[in-house]
Amino acid sequence: MTDLLSPLPLRGLTLPNRFVVSPMCQYSARGGVVGDYHLVHLGRFALGGFGTVIVEATAVTAEGRITYGCPGLWDDAQIAGMARITALLRAQGAVAGIQLAHAGRKASSIPPWLMGTDEREADAEHWEPVAPSALPHAEDAPMPRAMREADIEAEVAAWAAATKRAVEAGFQLIEIHGAHGYLLNQFLSPLSNRREDAYGGSAENRMRFPLKVVEAVRAAMPEDMPLFLRLSAVDGLDGGRTIEDSVAFARAARDRGVDVIDVSAGGFTGSRFEIGPGMYLPWAAQIREDAGLPVMAVGLMGEAELAAEALSDGRADLIGLGRAALDDPNWPLHAARQLGTETRALWPKQAGYAIERWPGRNTAKG
Ligand SMILES: Cc1cc2nc3c(=O)[nH]c(=O)nc-3n(C[C@H](O)[C@H](O)[C@H](O)COP(=O)(O)O)c2cc1C
Repeated sequence: MTDLLSPLPLRGLTLPNRFVVSPMCQYSARGGVVGDYHLVHLGRFALGGFGTVIVEATAVTAEGRITYGCPGLWDDAQIAGMARITALLRAQGAVAGIQLAHAGRKASSIPPWLMGTDEREADAEHWEPVAPSALPHAEDAPMPRAMREADIEAEVAAWAAATKRAVEAGFQLIEIHGAHGYLLNQFLSPLSNRREDAYGGSAENRMRFPLKVVEAVRAAMPEDMPLFLRLSAVDGLDGGRTIEDSVAFARAARDRGVDVIDVSAGGFTGSRFEIGPGMYLPWAAQIREDAGLPVMAVGLMGEAELAAEALSDGRADLIGLGRAALDDPNWPLHAARQLGTETRALWPKQAGYAIERWPGRNTAKG
C-alpha cells in the first residue's frame, strides 16, 4: 500500500517520500536573482521532512515575471543564487525542483501585500505584458500585446534556455507552469485565446504553443530527469476549459515526456470553486485515471488522514502543500507522528535523536 513515506521512482530519480512543497511566489527577488531569504525559506522545508521542494514560479524571460520581485532564469547571472538553494536542499536529502513560468498577460503586477495600499516599493518596475491575444485579465490590468509568430518562436527558445540554466543550477526536477491563467493556460483557454492563426481556434490549435514548450523543455533536460506539468484542471468559468480538455492535454503532454501532472485549478478573474479539504482531488484522480500518469494533488491537502487516504486509495501519487507548509515547515514530521508512523528518518540527524529522547512529549517513535 502506498503511504506518505514510500519513495517514488521517476526516471533516474527517486523522490524520498510523497510530501512536496508546492511552488510559492515570495516576490522577494531583485532583477530575478534570489537571495538569503529564499535560501532559508526553502531550506526549512528540507529540514522539516519534505522529500521534494519546488522553487516558486521562476520566469523564463524578464517580461514573463508576475511581479518585479519574481525570480528568473533568463540570464546566466541568475544561476548562482539558485545553485546555493539546490546545494542546501540536496545536502539535506531533499529533491530540488523548480517551477519554470511565464505570466503572459498577468505580468507586471505588484506583490499581493501591496495591493489595495498606496505603498510603492522604490525599485518597482512595470512593463508591457505579452499574451496570445490583446485581452487584459482584469478591468484594471494592463493591456497585453498579442504575440506574433516570431514572439512564439522566441518564447519557446527562452523556455529551453531557462531549462538548461535550471539544470546547471543543480535542479533535479522541473515543473512547467501551465496553470492559474498564466501564459500557457492563456493559450489553452478560449477565454483568453482569440487567435485566428495556427495557435488559436480549435482545441488542437490552442494546445500547439504549450506543447511546443513541453517539447522544448523536455529536449533541454537530461533524459533521466523527471518533468512535471502543473495544470488548471478547469478554468472555473462558463466557456472556459473543462476537465475533458485537461485530460486531453495531459495525454498529449505525457506522450511528449511529461512524467507527473500537478493538478490545480482556476486563475481567471471570477473563477469559482467549492472551497474545502481536497478541493481539486477529484480532478487529480480523474486525470490520473484517464490520462494514465502519476499526479500530484494540491489544494487544502494539509490534513494528514486525507493526504494518506488519497495515496492509499490511488487518487494521487504525491501530496503538494502550499499554505500548510508555510504555516508548519515541519508538516511531514507532524503528519507522520499523527499517523503513528516512525519519524526519525524524516528529521535531520542533528535533531532526530534529541526529539526521540524528549521526555513526556514523544514516544520512541518521535
Ligand atoms: C504564497 C503563495 C504563493 C504561490 N505561488 C505559486 C507559484 O509560484 N506557482 C504556482 O503554481 N502556484 C502558486 N501558489 C499556489 C500553491 O502552489 C498551491 O497550489 C495552492 O496554495 C493550494 O495549496 P494549499 O491549499 O496547500 O495552499 C501559491 C500559493 C501561495 C499561498
